[in-house]
Amino acid sequence: MLALPFSDECFDVVIEKGTMDVLFVDSGDPWNPQPSTVSKVMAMLENVHRVLKPDGIFISITFGQPHFRRPFFQNSKFTWSIEWSTFGDGFHYFFYILRKGRRTSDGWDSSEKLEMPSICLLQEELEGEDYIFRTNIDEMDC
Ligand SMILES: C[S@@+](CC[C@H](N)C(=O)[O-])C[C@H]1O[C@@H](n2cnc3c(N)ncnc32)[C@H](O)[C@@H]1O
Repeated sequence: MLALPFSDECFDVVIEKGTMDVLFVDSGDPWNPQPSTVSKVMAMLENVHRVLKPDGIFISITFGQPHFRRPFFQNSKFTWSIEWSTFGDGFHYFFYILRKGRRTSDGWDSSEKLEMPSICLLQEELEGEDYIFRTNIDEMDC
């Protein structure tokens, strides 16, 4: 997937499920991944973008949360729009749909704005060691 042996613009759809995740195994701090991780993830996405037809779709099914995936998907090299759905009860996974050639000025489809998971954290929660485990994003009144 880092060097797809296919010609440019030959697929209508590319699907990956849990495979891009392996590139993050040694990423270190997920908020600031290692340069080697960034290089591999970008290589994969550049390959996927390249082999997609001009109006092709990339589907990514992953536990990777939008705040960790968006910086990669949104890179200015890519012409795709981004939207996603959230699945799971408590432990969420995400179904991203990236539509090549559909990027808007802000990089988003209108639909994904509606589905974007929102996390509201109080300052004292941010300072607590286990704030992430005490935060139930579904039940918070944002
Ligand atoms: C969590 S499994 C998911 C497998 C499958 N997509 C599924 O949903 O059942 C991750 C897969 O990524 C493969 N993988 C790891 N590094 C890879 C790479 N650089 N290129 C392609 N596949 C890779 C692993 O061999 C493993 O099969």
